[in-house]
Amino acid sequence: MAAITLKDINKQYGDGFHAVKDVSLDIADGEFVILVGPSGCGKSTLLRMIVGLEDITSGEMLIGGQRVNEKAPRDRNLSMVFQNYALYPHLTVFENIAFPLRLSKTSAKEVDERVRHAAELLELTEHLDRKPANLSGGQRQRVAMGRAIVREAQAFLFDEPLSNLDAKLRGQMRTEISRLQKRLGITTVYVTHDQVEAMTLGDRVVVLRRGVVQQVATPRELYENPVNLFVAGFIGSPPMNFISATVVDGRLHTPFGEWTLPESRATGLPGREVVLIGARPEAFEDASVVSDTIREHGVVFDANIDVIEWLGNEQYAYVPYEAPEDIRAQLAELERELDSEAMRTQLVVSLDATSRIPEGTTASLWLDLRKVHVFDPASGENLTVKAVRGAATDGAGYDGGAGSDGDGAPAAPQTPRSSASGDDGLPAAPTSGED
Ligand SMILES: Nc1ncnc2c1ncn2[C@@H]1O[C@H](COP(=O)(O)OP(=O)(O)OP(=O)(O)O)[C@@H](O)[C@H]1O
Ligand SMILES: [Mg+2]
Repeated sequence: MAAITLKDINKQYGDGFHAVKDVSLDIADGEFVILVGPSGCGKSTLLRMIVGLEDITSGEMLIGGQRVNEKAPRDRNLSMVFQNYALYPHLTVFENIAFPLRLSKTSAKEVDERVRHAAELLELTEHLDRKPANLSGGQRQRVAMGRAIVREAQAFLFDEPLSNLDAKLRGQMRTEISRLQKRLGITTVYVTHDQVEAMTLGDRVVVLRRGVVQQVATPRELYENPVNLFVAGFIGSPPMNFISATVVDGRLHTPFGEWTLPESRATGLPGREVVLIGARPEAFEDASVVSDTIREHGVVFDANIDVIEWLGNEQYAYVPYEAPEDIRAQLAELERELDSEAMRTQLVVSLDATSRIPEGTTASLWLDLRKVHVFDPASGENLTVKAVRGAATDGAGYDGGAGSDGDGAPAAPQTPRSSASGDDGLPAAPTSGED
């Protein structure tokens, strides 16, 4: 097991395409890190550079403190688990797991010990004599991991290992990988573009856009304090709503009326004319079910409820609205980049399951203004988060860059799985509940 450090890593392919740009990242020994982002953002390229399957154009890669740029994959002692597991169909589970040990001419006794130990960990003992074709997808995945375990690899690297599986099996395997990683405590880097995997598996998540790291943080931190429009739009489903507003005397003129933000949320407003207000679906509520004590923290406005989707435990209301042309174009662009289906000039609002607002009517909605974010529409920067970070770090500001959680302290947590709180100097990051 080992820490993995990336220093200013760049990848320029032979045809000149710059796929990974100045990525710096400290992955602690035993940490579970997720790389996430839309198709083509450079996730696989980054992973393949860690394993050694792809040359590093510039920058330095350290594994366990040793520079590995010039080392061949087999000398890096990492274990990559691919989508298709690469098992040998004619070999038994035992021999599949034993394979790397046979190659290295390990003694028969030691092979037997190590394979049985791995099988025990992976609950494969009773399947050791079977062939891969007769196993379930999940069992095959475990065989592939068994091979990684007997090699005593320094780290596990996964490239979308579950994307071939159906939804149910994917859910099971997700839990299994999470459980195993915790039990084994092996440093793990996991590529996905599935945001449920991103949110539930990792200690920290790295969000990439066009080869550039946008934010490195715990899942909760990404959700609650996304540094820019891209991260805000990528993490969360349904996605965050973005509402255009003009700033007049510190107040917001929005398509839904005039809003006054609480002081803590208004820090990004001075000197601005147009902003985008970000509000997650759950920041809204049917005003009629909001208690008086809570109501004062938000604003009540009338909205035309186009469609209601009732899901039993909750319901979503769709509220179309008019946005200025330039803002609409910009949001459409963001949508394309995020591979998102959502129509951005409508609000998607989560309502209490008891709400009885009918479709096709005008209803009174409430928005919790303590939960909104203010974005710069031009740069996409989250001005609210920037202000909080600025205050928390005594004006140091936040660069959103890789390897830094904003306060200049090392990004890596002290111990694996302890990174869920306080790693960024922000107040609001209690222990995350994702595991
Ligand atoms: N051999 C290559 N030569 C030139 N460009 C490449 C090569 N391999 C990948 N690229 C480009 O580098 C970028 C990143 O590719 P990469 O495979 O890392 O993306 P990804 O994030 O893994 O995407 P996906 O989610 O679709 O797997 C893409 O734009 C791709 O077209
Ligand atoms: Mg890929």
